[in-house]
Amino acid sequence: MRLDVLSIFPEYLAPLDLSLIGKARRDGLLDLRVHDLREFTHDRHRTVDDTPYGGGAGMVMKPQPWSEALDAVAAQADSRPVLIVPGPGGERFTQAIARELAQRPHLVFACGRYEGIDERVYDYAARDYDVRVLSLGDYVLNGGEVAVLAMVEAIARLLPGVIGNAESLVEESHEDGLLEYPVYTKPADWNGRQVPDVLLSGDHGRIATWRHQQRLERTAARRPDMYEAYRAEHPEA
Ligand code: ADE
Repeated sequence: MRLDVLSIFPEYLAPLDLSLIGKARRDGLLDLRVHDLREFTHDRHRTVDDTPYGGGAGMVMKPQPWSEALDAVAAQADSRPVLIVPGPGGERFTQAIARELAQRPHLVFACGRYEGIDERVYDYAARDYDVRVLSLGDYVLNGGEVAVLAMVEAIARLLPGVIGNAESLVEESHEDGLLEYPVYTKPADWNGRQVPDVLLSGDHGRIATWRHQQRLERTAARRPDMYEAYRAEHPEA
């Protein structure tokens, strides 16, 4: 998979060299390139922002550096890329969207800062890109970079070979509408706190039933919205 990230803070993306994502890059599974948006400015101050038309607080990202950066990346594309613009005004990023994006060969992330990117850039980009505005959740970050770290990790770990144990992808939270069951490791007695007996029983049927029950209880307690949706799909549960 080819990934490009456009940002005025390329150093923010340094963690993508670490852990499983870093290894996937070194193994050639991910071709991830980070670009400094200021490289596409032409003035002495490398200006990327200006005041908003109509007034109001803050600054808006100028269209010109974005159009040149997007043209440069599109010129290197073998297939039509997806342009992902993270922002609190976007569609909610979910596991289903991560799965959908993991099928695409080329993703480009545009990190906005300040009050956002001039709206005309979205329309301009639609010529060469499938454009998606995606939000991590109902809160506001200072820019798209932290959201890109989260999205790239969520997407890349779904690619074959990125996670050693592909089975660990199956029973995860958000894969089938329920949260995960609780997990324990040795020792069985830790400072007087016991691992549930059923997990020591060796009875795989009972263990599976217990885990499923735990998933239902957790989901009902922590995510009533997910629990209602699950009950609607599985009336017998
Ligand atoms: N940029 C600023 N806030 C954001 C959010 N909630 N999700 C994604 N990108 C953002």
